[in-house]
Amino acid sequence: MARTRFAAVLAATCAALATASFYDASYSAPAQMCDKYVELGYNELSASCQNAVACSGLLNATSLADCEAKCDAQAAAAPGTGEAACVGVDTGPRGNGNWGCYLKSRCDGKPGRCSGSWCGYRREGVVPPSPTPPAPPVPPSPPGVTLRQAAASHGVFIGTATNAGYLADPADPKYKLVEQAQFDLVTAENACKVGPIHPERDTYDWKGCDSVFDAAEMANQTVRGHNLCWHTQNPSWLTNGNFTAPELVAILEEHITTVVGRYGTRAYCWDVVNEAFDNNGLKTSPPWYPAVPDYIDVAFKAARKVGGAKVKLFYNDYSADAVNSKSDAIFKYVQGMVQRGIPIDGVGLQFHWSLANHDTLESVASNMARLDKLGLEVHITELDIKCTPKGSGKPCTPQLLNAQAKLYADILRTCLDAPNCKSFEVWGFTDRHTWIGTASAPLLFDADYNPKPAAFALINELLNTTATRV
Ligand code: G3I
Repeated sequence: MARTRFAAVLAATCAALATASFYDASYSAPAQMCDKYVELGYNELSASCQNAVACSGLLNATSLADCEAKCDAQAAAAPGTGEAACVGVDTGPRGNGNWGCYLKSRCDGKPGRCSGSWCGYRREGVVPPSPTPPAPPVPPSPPGVTLRQAAASHGVFIGTATNAGYLADPADPKYKLVEQAQFDLVTAENACKVGPIHPERDTYDWKGCDSVFDAAEMANQTVRGHNLCWHTQNPSWLTNGNFTAPELVAILEEHITTVVGRYGTRAYCWDVVNEAFDNNGLKTSPPWYPAVPDYIDVAFKAARKVGGAKVKLFYNDYSADAVNSKSDAIFKYVQGMVQRGIPIDGVGLQFHWSLANHDTLESVASNMARLDKLGLEVHITELDIKCTPKGSGKPCTPQLLNAQAKLYADILRTCLDAPNCKSFEVWGFTDRHTWIGTASAPLLFDADYNPKPAAFALINELLNTTATRV
């Protein structure tokens, strides 16, 4: 899939492209089209269309290559920021087989609205796609080799998000067995976040978070802490508190000092601040921003003060895995932190990907390399790859499973090739329990805990790649 840095998708461009002739007549209302677009799973950047809108012209392409050339030309013709990618045929219920050039930008930035919208549908003039060659089947790995055994010689953690509730569920014993056998690093999916751990201003509830640390230590696993400051999943006393800026600083420092202080070096690292940026820079994220303009610095300084240098401190975000306007904004900010002497050790790249639409590995490698030049580590923190778009109702066929396996292995190889990439972590491991939904089959083990081709592909990649660091 061609993906080009796109110079300018301004409102004018969107308006020009979103002419009636591009719309499927029955989807003429922009909001509906936006919903449809999200439902089909093409929008990987946000749950609604506020940050990434599709604005596309029909390309009348005859093949993927033809589409890519036309899409690149369209992107190059416009000045500004954003990205363009050629998206394949829409095979959803309203799909008709046309290629479109998908231009991501902030066309209007209004939550829930998608001006410009998805304009690639047309009923007539169907051009079938050139078939994508199927990914070769994945050979099984040697029997008895687990992911963590295969990773051991590489100096890279192989991790998973873990759920305190499922870990303790006697009716679902395989969850803990597979999680502990396969992974050498874990992150509490929810249990250590501010909401669950700090339910009242003066009360902490350590039960869930402690249980994740305890179980991990019993299984000789490292714990990656997630997270100390976020604009989401906060307790109501914090969101509804109407606190002044000095009060918020005191709350943030107190929370971080208490949590990092409790776990000390039992936590290998913490996501100190989570998801603070959009494509234009720091995003409005109450209660923290804009009320406390330097809240990121405040958080990192507090974490280093109590944790010391042995607890690594990370900034973590999504849709900033490759070089794009959002990762540019993050890069600029962390570069500033390094220059100002604010303690930061690395950047977490979440990697919530989908087979239908994703970044290139070349661009991911460039992003990792520029962070390396700043002296920062990178962790792949929340990898999952939707096999089929959410809500599409389509099965994840054997062919798609092989394509998913190849993409997992390619991402792992990109991490192994980057000297500063120290952790490769999936956001859950079984399709039985995933925030995305079992139907999209995004993870390494199926809903019955059987390894999928993706698990074998990762093991093979680890076994067949010479370890270059310990
Ligand atoms: O614990 C309550 C439960 O008491 C209540 O009955 C139930 C009713 O909905 O909700 C439960 O809380 C849910 C929680 O997961 C635990 O299951 C929340 O509603 C739900 O919103 C929450 O979702 C989590 C989400 O973060 C919160 O924003 C997902 O499990 C978790 O996978 C997801 O993880 C995030 C990362 O932290 C950051 N990056 C993106 C990633 C995916 O969204």
